Order: sequence, then structure tokens, then C-alpha cells
Amino acid sequence: MDEALKELFEAAAKAQARAYAPYSRFRVGAAIRGGSGRIHAGCNVENAAYPVGTCAEAGALAAMILAGDRDPTDILVLGEGEMLCTPCGACRQRLREFGSDRLAIHVAGPDSIRRSFTLAELLPHSFGPDNLA
Ligand code: THU
Repeated sequence: MDEALKELFEAAAKAQARAYAPYSRFRVGAAIRGGSGRIHAGCNVENAAYPVGTCAEAGALAAMILAGDRDPTDILVLGEGEMLCTPCGACRQRLREFGSDRLAIHVAGPDSIRRSFTLAELLPHSFGPDNLA
């Protein structure tokens, strides 16, 4: 893993450790690199009213916006289990709001990145801000 990705991985791992997931027991951390080069992290935050819970990616995006950063270049999502923890449909659309088709989405397990995608691969023919221009 190159140094920039290692940094992203470590930020996601730290965020995952803070996840609030008492219902699913599925802890997720995400770290997104904004256009400034800075990293913003988030974790999933569940709720007793289940649908109100939020994903790690949503938290990372909110942190990026709060920091005044935009134009993300890549995001790393760190989940549990054997399967790929790819962003859910709603989070793909959230990423679309700020990321280009080339936004890199790295999907990781506890030890390493398992696969990398572009946003265009995970959300083809998407609807975004340019549709409303
Ligand atoms: N979750 C995320 O935070 N990100 C993903 O990419 C997939 C799922 C969370 C939502 C919920 O708190 C738990 O994982 C189980 O779905």
C-alpha cells in the first residue's frame, strides 16, 4: 500500500474504532481525502429507531464539508466480515454530490484494501448537480 493510502486506511481504522453500532454490531469507518489533500473521517452511528442511523461515508462527507473542503479524490471504507463493504446505494448518491466519476472508492477489510472502484463503476449513468445546471 502506498503512503497516501496507508494514511487513509489508518484514519478509517481510527474512525471504525469509534463506531456506534450496538444494533447491527457491524462497525464501519470511512476516510475521504478532499481536494485540499486533508483527510476527513466518519463512522456509522446507529439509532434505536433503526432507519435514522447514518453510515460512515455520510459522516466522513459531513466532516469534509464542515472543514470547508470539496472535490474529494478518494475514499476508503473499512468494514467487517469477509464480504466487500461497498457503499450502500444512498451513500453512492451522497458521494456523487461532491465527487466526479473518477472518485476512487477503496473497499477494505481489517488488514488491507480488497478492491478499488471508481464512482462511475458503482453508480453508472448517475444523476448529479450538473443535471440541474
Ligand atoms: N454501513 C456503513 O456505515 N457503510 C457501508 O458502506 C455499509 C453499511 C453501516 C450502516 C449500519 O450501521 C451497518 O453498517 C449495517 O448495515
